[in-house]
Amino acid sequence: MKYRIKEVGLELGVPVSTIRYWQKEFADFINPEKTDGGQRRYSQQDLETFLQIKEQVYKQKRSIESVRETLKGSDSSCPDIDWSDKTILITGGTGSFGKHFCHYLLDRLNPKAIRIYSRDELKQHEMRIEFKDDERLRFLIGDVRDGERLLRAMRGVDMVVHAAALKQVPACEYNPFEAVKTNVHGAQNVINAAIDAGVKKVIALSTDKAVNPVNLYGATKLCSDKLFVQGNAYAGAEGTCFACVRYGNVIGSRGSVIPLFLQQKESGTITITDERMTRFWITLDHAVELVLQGFRYMEGGEIFVPNIPSMRIMDLAEAIAPECAVKHIGIRDGEKLHEALTGEDEGRNTYKYKGMYVVMPSHSWWKRKNYVEAVKMPEGFVYTSDANEEWLTVDELRQIVFGEAEQKDNRATDVDHGVPARAVA
Ligand SMILES: NC(=O)c1ccc[n+]([C@@H]2O[C@H](COP(=O)([O-])OP(=O)(O)OC[C@H]3O[C@@H](n4cnc5c(N)ncnc54)[C@H](OP(=O)(O)O)[C@@H]3O)[C@@H](O)[C@H]2O)c1
Repeated sequence: MKYRIKEVGLELGVPVSTIRYWQKEFADFINPEKTDGGQRRYSQQDLETFLQIKEQVYKQKRSIESVRETLKGSDSSCPDIDWSDKTILITGGTGSFGKHFCHYLLDRLNPKAIRIYSRDELKQHEMRIEFKDDERLRFLIGDVRDGERLLRAMRGVDMVVHAAALKQVPACEYNPFEAVKTNVHGAQNVINAAIDAGVKKVIALSTDKAVNPVNLYGATKLCSDKLFVQGNAYAGAEGTCFACVRYGNVIGSRGSVIPLFLQQKESGTITITDERMTRFWITLDHAVELVLQGFRYMEGGEIFVPNIPSMRIMDLAEAIAPECAVKHIGIRDGEKLHEALTGEDEGRNTYKYKGMYVVMPSHSWWKRKNYVEAVKMPEGFVYTSDANEEWLTVDELRQIVFGEAEQKDNRATDVDHGVPARAVA
């Protein structure tokens, strides 16, 4: 007997979006057949593998990485990180990513301590309550513009996630010097403090907007990416390692197209900027897993990019509001038709590895030890949402969207794009 993805979801009692995510993460262990129309059909063996995954992730609260290791035996070339003796600092720890990262780590990996570093005491207070005064969390008030404070905050820290940023496109356009201070000088301060405090590994969060940037936000994040990649030159051979993780908007998050369509549906008309538009689809869980994978494999200078499916905006409209009229309102300044997660210049250094693309640095002094089975992408490779090999169908989108309510904790509360009142993903 062969199962459709929907049937696998029903059998397991988990949303189709989760099955899809597991399919991607455990691609080496689940081998569905494909129909002529490109739909997956799962075997009984696949179903049993999914059951094992569910047991380990849901009941045993294990990370995707460690489940993967169990399924394949151990990967001794690069062992999983033991987080129980690690102190982590997260700049921007009260933000959407930061909070999700903390939930994930505290629930499943039991780190020694997580230091939250951000400016606003109210957000920290609310987070303390949300996390029920978890003793492993420490709240440090500080600005990434303040190098001295960062250095003190990083003493005794093993790993840093740099998530703090100004990320609203219009705010960065209107306050350009402030965007540079936080996103560029802040990155430089994080790098300096990490080296001086002896931090072992730092991952900075990047965005699709840093690829061929068309606005100041993207330009500052591109500059930040370059600083982190090149920051390894300051650290020396045995010093701190720096890498980036790059992903696009977390779809379904506040201000993005799904809540907008759901709201507009009531009026009988939905707005679309351009019907050719495509977007990648990523969940916050996946973003967190990517950072954890990055920490595991990084040697310094990599940009980690998730391998994720795309969707067409018109398919999403069809999935959410098939009965509605569509009003075209035109593409806005700074908006792209398609998302790009790697640029042309990065293509020749991009490798496919364990469900991700890894843009390797081109340092002459860089010696690779990991990534033994990595597959080099062909010359000219770019990873864009319109040229993706995997697409979400209307049916799958409908499943994901109308199952979304059950997955609130899998969402960001905000997106890093500009004006939220128009239909962009
Ligand atoms: N959300 C997305 O769709 C998305 C997509 C791709 C990449 N990213 C990237 O992911 C990262 C995190 O995004 P997010 O969605 O979690 O952002 P967010 O929800 O807006 O959170 C931003 C965090 O940064 C802190 N912060 C801002 N300026 C700071 C400063 N000068 N010093 C210290 N802390 C500061 C904020 O707290 P205070 O205001 O209290 O300081 C808050 O904790 C960003 O680097 C962003 O570029 C986001």
